[in-house]
Amino acid sequence: MADNFKVADLGLAEEGRLRIEWAESRMPVLMALREKAKKELPLRGMRVAGCLHVTKETAVLIRTIRAAGAEVSWSGCNPLSTNDSTAAALAAEGTSIYAWHGLSTEEFYWCIDRTLDFKPTLTLDDGADLIFTVHAKRPDLWADVIGGTEETTTGVKRLRAMADDGKLQYPVIAVNDSATKWDFDNVHGTGQSSLDGILRATSVLIAGKVFVVAGFGHCGRGVAMRARGLGGRVIVTEIDPVAALRATLEGFDVMTMEQAAKVGDIFITATGMRDILIGKHFASMKDGAVICNTGHYDCEISIPELEALATSWREIRPNNEEFRLKDGRRIYLLARGRLVNLAAAEGHPSEVMDMSFANQFSALCLLAKEGRNMGKQVYVLPPEQDQMVAGLKLQTMGIAIDKLTDAQIAYSNDYSAGT
Ligand code: ADE
Repeated sequence: MADNFKVADLGLAEEGRLRIEWAESRMPVLMALREKAKKELPLRGMRVAGCLHVTKETAVLIRTIRAAGAEVSWSGCNPLSTNDSTAAALAAEGTSIYAWHGLSTEEFYWCIDRTLDFKPTLTLDDGADLIFTVHAKRPDLWADVIGGTEETTTGVKRLRAMADDGKLQYPVIAVNDSATKWDFDNVHGTGQSSLDGILRATSVLIAGKVFVVAGFGHCGRGVAMRARGLGGRVIVTEIDPVAALRATLEGFDVMTMEQAAKVGDIFITATGMRDILIGKHFASMKDGAVICNTGHYDCEISIPELEALATSWREIRPNNEEFRLKDGRRIYLLARGRLVNLAAAEGHPSEVMDMSFANQFSALCLLAKEGRNMGKQVYVLPPEQDQMVAGLKLQTMGIAIDKLTDAQIAYSNDYSAGT
């Protein structure tokens, strides 16, 4: 067994098992799909390589994929997001997993390479690092991979660009683009877990603070809503006029980052773009400003520019580094500019990952069945999938909804009716 995994400490397995059990109790939709899959084995014979944050929720997904008949090999998709006890529990129960908290960049790609040695028939990504590695380094695998899935906005954007250039070698399902993923995971998941990460790393009072959110996509909107809910005075910065207008009409102050930098107490980037907070912003921030990121990559905050301005540095709390500037002002960087919700907290709550991973699992099953007949493009899941996931979720929450009557269906199809 010992040669099909590398984790920080196998001794943490019992703690990890309890964590996973807790998540399972809050993920009823995925658990229902698991029960069905145990009988039907829709992934029998598949070899699934995954590159996605190793959290208790991901463990529930991995157990479900294995219960459906597949073999699994896994790595984390961010150097700071692996929960070591979860990784230990997965290794102890026979999952081939290469993941630990605090990987170097070299180790990160070493882990991905190990999962590819396993010669997958399906790939599963969050951020597209695994699929890019298959494309860049492993042409020998292209013929055997039936398809792939992608979890996040950043990864989907890049894969669409690859497909447009005719470079994609197998079909990919953009799980991110299902309404039952982005409308809940991106908004409510990122919103709550980002505030959770900030609070664990700082323990500050949000009420009364000027809270600056860069980006008003689904993730930024979720963060802005939750910061306001805790009493923050929320400012939004944007580059898109429509998003900026939406934020304004939802009651947020909108301004440029140059203006916000002078007045903000807490800054969070949620843009998917590089260089959102840079030297000129640090130079005008207030003493004590807290900065962090919740976008997929760590390029939104320029740490080299912050380091260049600093005269001293210390870690003041876990996931919280103090940079003292020449004039004595202090800036606090959380989680090294990596996803604050996963590096300083536990990522999105199980209840939203339930829907995201029900979609991931269904996407793998669809690829196993149909992938050989699909083109080398980026696909979305069919709308019935959202209906199924949302319907099941409501059912598990004990919420009933109305149904259209026959007369109402006839009315909605009748274009002759008017005033
Ligand atoms: N992405 C954000 N939160 C997550 C979680 N809890 N598990 C896996 N991926 C995530």
